[in-house]
Amino acid sequence: MPDESAGGALQSKITELGAAALAALDSCASPGELDAAYQQYLGKKGELSAIMKGFGALSPEEKKSTGQVMHQTRTGIEERFAARKQSLEEEALAARLAEEAYDALRPLSAERGHLHPISQLQMQVEEIFSNMGFRIMDGPEVETDLHNFGRLNFSDDHPARDMQDTIWTVDGNLMRTHTSTIQVRTMQKLKPPFRIIAPGRVFRYEETDATHENTFHQVEGMLIDRDVSVAHIIHIMKTFLSEIFEREIKVRLRPGYFPFVEPGFELDYLREDGRWLELMPCGMVHPNVLRAGGIDPEEWSGFAFGLGLDRLVMMRYGIEDIRHMLAGNLRFQQQF
Ligand code: DAH
Repeated sequence: MPDESAGGALQSKITELGAAALAALDSCASPGELDAAYQQYLGKKGELSAIMKGFGALSPEEKKSTGQVMHQTRTGIEERFAARKQSLEEEALAARLAEEAYDALRPLSAERGHLHPISQLQMQVEEIFSNMGFRIMDGPEVETDLHNFGRLNFSDDHPARDMQDTIWTVDGNLMRTHTSTIQVRTMQKLKPPFRIIAPGRVFRYEETDATHENTFHQVEGMLIDRDVSVAHIIHIMKTFLSEIFEREIKVRLRPGYFPFVEPGFELDYLREDGRWLELMPCGMVHPNVLRAGGIDPEEWSGFAFGLGLDRLVMMRYGIEDIRHMLAGNLRFQQQF
């Protein structure tokens, strides 16, 4: 039977307030909101204090039973507050950790990178020559004068040795100016017959412009065997270029001078528009170079070539300025 006394009325107000307070605490989404709700109901100037103003007027009996209801309600709200506070703090922490956490399995970026066009072409060149039995050699970028010049039949006063062309180190070594150094290094390592290519970076002390860079890429080639002739150069180069350009390629040789070949040539190829374009220097390996490499020129002969990789990339894609190659500009590189 409902208690219609003053104490009964107060008790039901307290109970209502308790239910409202619990609902309010449950709906709070953050520790801050929770503190505000707590103050609203149980704070010094909160709703519970306000309705308890009527407490003084109650009879001692009513005070006792109302006091109990008040105490229970208060305790209930405090417990709920503490529980909600803990779970909201845990949620906040978990959210922060999830945001900061390093997930080793998460893809770093939706966008995949790819190889630089020079690397792509280099791999293709390596594959074509590998299929023709060529080995792929490598060597250092800082070289001795002997490997870069001396053993390649450069005279001591050859202009290529000049400070104008070569980056020298303080201890008298140099940044290799061409991959022909690998001719020398290969002859030190392998016994003929052999056929090798050597791709790599080379360096010149250059004023840069659309066709000159201080750092660029070459592929050296060298084939040593018995009775090698110019016909072998032409055949290998035609085969190589036809694969690269994916059509039958015509080549021609013009005389060219490099101290390590005799005779030396410039190899041109016939473009689709009918014009000849200079592509690479090559020649028959000079007897002095063979001798310096411990190979008897009476028994062995060979040819060598030096392909400019940057130039080949530029021709393939119609790139007008070699300085794009190493500029690291993504707008350039993403096109390949
Ligand atoms: N090493 C020469 C250069 O960088 C290019 C070259 C010419 C390489 C003739 C050769 C060759 O193997 O036979 O200018």
